[in-house]
Amino acid sequence: MYIEVEGGSRAAGELTIQGAKNAVLPMIAATVLCRETIVLERCPKIYDVDAMISILRQIGADVKWDGDCLTINADGVEGCEITRKEAGEVRASILFVGSLLGRNHRACICLPGGCSIGARPIDFHIQAFEKLGAAMSQEGSKICCAVERRGEEEVTLPYPSVGATENIILYSALRTGRTVLRNAAREPEIVELCCFMRSMGACISGDGTDTIHIRGVERLHGTTYQLKSDRIVFLTYAAMAAATGGEVRFRVYGDTFEREQGYLREAGCRVEAEDTGGTGETDFPYSWIRVSGADGIRAVPYLRTGPYPEFPTDAQSLFLAFLSKAYGESTLEESVFENRFLVAAQLRKMGADIEVAGQHALVRGVTRLHGGIVRATDLRSGAALMVAAAMSEGVTRIEDSHLILRGYEDPVNQMNQIGVEARYGK
Ligand code: UD1
Repeated sequence: MYIEVEGGSRAAGELTIQGAKNAVLPMIAATVLCRETIVLERCPKIYDVDAMISILRQIGADVKWDGDCLTINADGVEGCEITRKEAGEVRASILFVGSLLGRNHRACICLPGGCSIGARPIDFHIQAFEKLGAAMSQEGSKICCAVERRGEEEVTLPYPSVGATENIILYSALRTGRTVLRNAAREPEIVELCCFMRSMGACISGDGTDTIHIRGVERLHGTTYQLKSDRIVFLTYAAMAAATGGEVRFRVYGDTFEREQGYLREAGCRVEAEDTGGTGETDFPYSWIRVSGADGIRAVPYLRTGPYPEFPTDAQSLFLAFLSKAYGESTLEESVFENRFLVAAQLRKMGADIEVAGQHALVRGVTRLHGGIVRATDLRSGAALMVAAAMSEGVTRIEDSHLILRGYEDPVNQMNQIGVEARYGK
């Protein structure tokens, strides 16, 4: 599958930013902890959500879509085993280990897939579960875990891994007694997972800091929860708006994206937050953020990715593309994943001047990019290529663009909505 984008026009109009992928995936895993109905509103229709749903169905849950509401009832979950096909499709499948251990005290899963952006081991997850009393065994590419003893009360992660933090929270929500997680990840999606779980009756505090306290409860109850907008999707279309010299007004839910606004301003974008909309009674509160590239894009001397609150690794490829026509030289350092500069080679095909040395990329701004045939190597590189394509002269064909659909809801439609001509092709 490919996406073709006609570059050269200025983005203009309004766009609503979809619910956050990295928040909804752990929430879907969390539904296994509850026997009552859970409704996720503003749930993004993306491939990773589909893959998590197919795992839920495989283990016996009842799942239905109604518009953008996803209704899940996991009362019928019997199985503890997740097979290769489902687990291979999405890395977040590893989060079912935490929730299945919490529910059934046992879980078996084939090693998960996900983007090809580095080794992505799961040793932190395994070590933490072992500390908390689960015995782990590996049979080929399958990992089996069973709760065998009470385990310790505290666990410290060697690195603030997002997935490991979520897995421990999921496991501990129904675990007897208290669990303290130190050196936890602080990403907004962790906070959102915890808000969601609190709405199910979980007893969690400290999320958003590096120490999370969980007191196990006997059961969790059903809930209806509305998802916040996705910060990386916001940055994608905001970068597209600004880099094409256009202006777009974004409707964002549940967050005002101050940090993301700051990254855009650093690159010379005009960003204005407008009055909050939505009544909060009949409508979930949202705000408007207006992003314009009327003043041109300027280089950012140095940007380093890192765990939150540092610059997100998921926006690194986007910024490589975004800054490739900026005035001046930018240096980006990737500290989270080792293979995340693969997109540089694709951007060079479009005329970008990017030099990669180890974990650093030097971007020298050029005056024009041109279309061509490029290939997405992972979800975020695909998004970066959409931004580059919109900034280019001529038509760009992005191959393997099914990878973009893992995290972006109908990107062609979204681009068309802001006046960037795009289409799907096979
Ligand atoms: C999550 C996000 C992903 C984002 C990443 C970092 C989801 C569904 N995905 O991925 O979009 O890019 O956080 O913000 O939320 N590591 C180990 N051993 C482990 C676990 C991680 O060495 O057991 C390493 C990884 O290889 C990587 C770093 O730790 O170098 C960060 O990984 P982690 O935070 O766990 O990322 P994910 O949860 O996989």
